[in-house]
Amino acid sequence: MDGAVNGQQTSKGQSAKTGAASTSRSALGPRGKGLFGRLLQGLRSPPAALQEAASIAIASGKGGTGKSFFATSLAVALHRSERRTVLVDADFGLACDHLLMGVKPTLTLQQLLQGQCTLEQVLIKSPCGPRLLPGASGVRRMATPTDKDLMLFARELGVLAASEDTLLLDLGAGIAPATVLTMLSADWIVLVTQPEIAALVDAYAVIKCVAQLKSSAKFLIVVNRVGTPGRGEMAFQRLTEVASQKVGVELRYLGEIPDDDSVMQHRLGQLPLIATEPDAPTSLAVTAMSERLIQICGGLMPRTVPGDEGIQARFRQHRLFM
Ligand SMILES: Nc1ncnc2c1ncn2[C@@H]1O[C@H](COP(=O)(O)OP(=O)(O)OP(=O)(O)O)[C@@H](O)[C@H]1O
Ligand SMILES: [Mg+2]
Repeated sequence: MDGAVNGQQTSKGQSAKTGAASTSRSALGPRGKGLFGRLLQGLRSPPAALQEAASIAIASGKGGTGKSFFATSLAVALHRSERRTVLVDADFGLACDHLLMGVKPTLTLQQLLQGQCTLEQVLIKSPCGPRLLPGASGVRRMATPTDKDLMLFARELGVLAASEDTLLLDLGAGIAPATVLTMLSADWIVLVTQPEIAALVDAYAVIKCVAQLKSSAKFLIVVNRVGTPGRGEMAFQRLTEVASQKVGVELRYLGEIPDDDSVMQHRLGQLPLIATEPDAPTSLAVTAMSERLIQICGGLMPRTVPGDEGIQARFRQHRLFM
């Protein structure tokens, strides 16, 4: 795998092995260390604090609400706001962010998790700025990641989080175990819904499912494909009422995105609409939301977390309860 890096070049000699070495944190849990190791660990001081990027999971109950459209557009908007941003296509097995970003990866998360390439090799820089960790599409094996796959995925996220400002995790719809685990491990969950009742009911189902496992989960709501201005906020009010009454969760409103034909007409493989038409109604809406997101999420800059509370550790911790 020397040389060619998902359409880019890397310094010669940087092999998959070197990449693995640079990510030397163990993917094994405490069990992998054996009894002696665990006893020793108890005596050692806690691991050093980490600088970690803010992680945002982009999720929905119902499929096709516009998560990937929002995630790719938001990645561009955050890049413009000078946040080092990586978009991770975590729609396991049905990834499509590369098509929306106008890039053609030859390597994906699949090869990364199978140890066939390094993180640096699989990351692809899009012409509009942010980097993408592309996912595999139409690969059944990736649609149901194993526990080992997920722990390797968590390790790579930990490595990415150490050098970026923001990680955006574009998820598949619904509550598959890998999707819920990623939501539980992220700092924030952006739920993308639509104003109609079916989408709101499914959004509530996700909130309930996640809140039962993590009562401190932080949800932000985006209402997409709004036909009449203001309907997004009305939909949010309905959702937030139910969520606070039934599961005691506070939601925050990020905003609404208008329904706009030019999104549908935009051809796959081109640059995102927000890059080519920053003044389009949907582009203006996402730009405003990215600014609001920066405010709500404490600047979307890296912050210090205890060494045993980084994103990799959170994946390990939450998987025990799945
Ligand atoms: N604001 C909008 N106006 C018009 N069409 C939109 C808008 N947002 C998304 N769409 C269209 O809706 C469809 C679904 O969008 P997208 O793929 O982003 O949804 P998704 O939630 O990621 O789907 P999945 O659950 O399959 O991952 C696409 O054809 C997209 O062009
Ligand atoms: Mg999608």
